[in-house]
Amino acid sequence: MSVELSTPLTLPSGVTLANRIAKSALSEALADRAQAPTAELIRLYRRWADSGAGLLITGNVMVDRRALGEPGNVAIEDDRHLDLLGQWAEAATARGAQAWVQLNHPGRQAPRGLNREAVAPSEITVTGAPGVFGKPRALSSAEIKGIIRRFATAARVVVDAGFTGVQIHAAHGYLISQFLSPLTNRRTDEWGGSAENRRRFLLEIVAAVRAEFGPRIPIGVKLNSADFQRGGMTEDESTEVVLALAKKGIDLLEISGGNYESTAFMGASGEGVKASTRAREAYFLDYAERARKAIADSGAELPLMVTGGFRSRLGMAEAVAGDAVDIVGLGRPLIMEPDLPRRLLAGEAGAMLVHPRRLRIKHLEGMGELMWFGVQLRRIGQGKEPDPTRHPLRNLPHYLHTTGLIGRPARRGFTG
Ligand SMILES: Cc1cc2nc3c(=O)[nH]c(=O)nc-3n(C[C@H](O)[C@H](O)[C@H](O)COP(=O)(O)O)c2cc1C
Repeated sequence: MSVELSTPLTLPSGVTLANRIAKSALSEALADRAQAPTAELIRLYRRWADSGAGLLITGNVMVDRRALGEPGNVAIEDDRHLDLLGQWAEAATARGAQAWVQLNHPGRQAPRGLNREAVAPSEITVTGAPGVFGKPRALSSAEIKGIIRRFATAARVVVDAGFTGVQIHAAHGYLISQFLSPLTNRRTDEWGGSAENRRRFLLEIVAAVRAEFGPRIPIGVKLNSADFQRGGMTEDESTEVVLALAKKGIDLLEISGGNYESTAFMGASGEGVKASTRAREAYFLDYAERARKAIADSGAELPLMVTGGFRSRLGMAEAVAGDAVDIVGLGRPLIMEPDLPRRLLAGEAGAMLVHPRRLRIKHLEGMGELMWFGVQLRRIGQGKEPDPTRHPLRNLPHYLHTTGLIGRPARRGFTG
């Protein structure tokens, strides 16, 4: 049977996704000062519930309120916001989509203006963003075990609230990715040194989350195909991580790449990105083919999702019809056109047509783009339409303020 975008997919846990399009995680930055969901966040998911995507993955939710990645992150440490989380889950699942919460810890990518301190596997500061991130403190082994428990607790709370699964964020240079990378993990205890030790943190989180709610709730992992940095995690090592995850038995592996120092996930510009990868619509398809082959050779089963760059129905349809990809992930297109999957599936749209206004200042482009999309997310949360004509520089002063680069740090996200 040839696989089409509308073909359902049953995951190893037995849960069925209605189609092959997923919304990938997009940090909404719409929590209140207590890091709880707001009415804006809930309204945004009411809109996406209707997007047509079979799977909605939330923006990253932090497992420790003392460790925020952006202003306005939701953070979950216990049941205290169960009611609001329940309303969020209800909105996201209202039209029958699977809704998974992405769980994250920023590690060293915790802006100074938002956090009293940053923690990491080793004391190595993020480069290329002077003033934003401080030197992190190396975690003790007891603290590492505490963070593993935090992932399990947050997973239990979101499933109690009505979300249908979780995704563990092991990509983009956040804490788990910092453990995986030899560039940021210089430990010599059981959490570092060898590649096997570096992946222990991720595998123990997966095991702790699985133990919390058994085999019937899907667990996804988002992983870098590579860090696209000299000395960072390579594709070879990433493939070893994939095989270890396949053996552990997760439901869906989402492939991405890069971090704050090399933002390959926003476009195939990172160091070492192959020309063949650049030539394809999605950035990480070559790697997905390689991972798929390694998984098949090992005899394991692990559905793959690839995110980054998909814009046309043809590009997406070819990806799922081929051997490597089960699910295509869409990020920015779901901000510009929140109902794009439904129209793609119905044959009413051939591609994303609304494009953001560019800043065209090389140094600020990556940061400017994230801010710009953040503002659009808030607009949708306020019941408005996205505004593709908005000038990116209008967001800059607020960004500098919220990250603590100028003035007093603010706890709220970017205002629209
Ligand atoms: C505003 C914004 C916020 C994002 N937040 C997250 C996040 O919380 N977690 C994550 O894993 N990826 C995040 N991403 C990355 C997206 O999930 C996705 O990997 C990336 O946008 C590439 O896919 P696209 O080309 O379809 O946009 C974010 C991207 C954007 C633009």
